[in-house]
Amino acid sequence: MISSTQRLGPKDIPAAAAMLRDGQLVAFPTETVYGLGADARNSTAVAGIFAAKSRPQFNPLIVHVADLEAVEKIAEIPSEARALAAAFWPGPLTLVLPIRSGCGLSELVTAGLDTVAVRIPSNPIAQALLKEFGGPVAAPSANPSGKISPTTAGHVLDGLSGKIAAVIDGGHCDVGVESTIVGFNNGPVLLRSGGLPVELLNAVLRKEIRRNTDDSITAPGQLKSHYAPKAMLRLNAVAPESNEAWLGFGPHNFTAPSLNLSQTRDLTEAAANLFAHLHALDKISARIAVAPIPTTGLGLAINDRLARAAS
Ligand code: TXA
Ligand code: MG
Repeated sequence: MISSTQRLGPKDIPAAAAMLRDGQLVAFPTETVYGLGADARNSTAVAGIFAAKSRPQFNPLIVHVADLEAVEKIAEIPSEARALAAAFWPGPLTLVLPIRSGCGLSELVTAGLDTVAVRIPSNPIAQALLKEFGGPVAAPSANPSGKISPTTAGHVLDGLSGKIAAVIDGGHCDVGVESTIVGFNNGPVLLRSGGLPVELLNAVLRKEIRRNTDDSITAPGQLKSHYAPKAMLRLNAVAPESNEAWLGFGPHNFTAPSLNLSQTRDLTEAAANLFAHLHALDKISARIAVAPIPTTGLGLAINDRLARAAS
């Protein structure tokens, strides 16, 4: 556990980038709201975001990068997305794009979806941090789950002091509301209205953007296709049956093919392993028995995802 959260300034960006490289959580200003950043390729670090925010569900996170070249490494960019990117990046716009397989992002960032939400922020501290770090940074708003998004370093500390390594103080956020999110599904769809006015989107698209009327898409964690393994899942199992693979939590000595979410019953480690282990066992067995996971802390989100995967 982190005992005290460092308050850093713009001159400490190299130190902040080193913390990210080390798997630690660093809050930083963007032009919309403060983000709670972690290395998007490091599942343990990303799981730490959910733990620090006490998020009950693994909602997919926005990946922040410095420039379009970095976006190309992780996502495919349809032509209408390219037009929006050219007009509004860097800025308060997030695009949900098809993920490039093998791009190295933690599956916890996308919550197992085959799309990834990407944004190039314009805030100079965010830009400098992303350039210095040189990789993708997953960052939800830097507030405890269910609380208002922070627009000053003080807000961040009010909610997360003692739970994250550092916050870079960049004063007030210019925009103050979260980014506008656009997805692409037979053309552009407005998934969340936000800091970039929809009229500006329409002007570039030369049409009125479709609004998302399907609630399930704004909360992708609720989508059926969200994570659907081929294998049958049996939850809260005591032991594997003869035709089952075992997804463990804590030590065991079953001989069935198995993976362990955490030998030491560490829920942060378990969250970090969840999607990757489910994918791996799905490849080798038609049935997976899953050990009981406590419903405290990150365990709630893990149980939520397992229940969806089992249904
Ligand atoms: O301005 C912002 O967007 C701030 C700053 C820090 O960048 N971030 C932010 O993140 O608001 P968060 O986690 O609070 O909201 C991210 C939203 C969620 O509603 C999530 O469901 C959606 O983005 N999202 C992420 N990945 C998605 C995907 N692959 N498909 C659809 N929605 C996605
Ligand atoms: Mg938020």
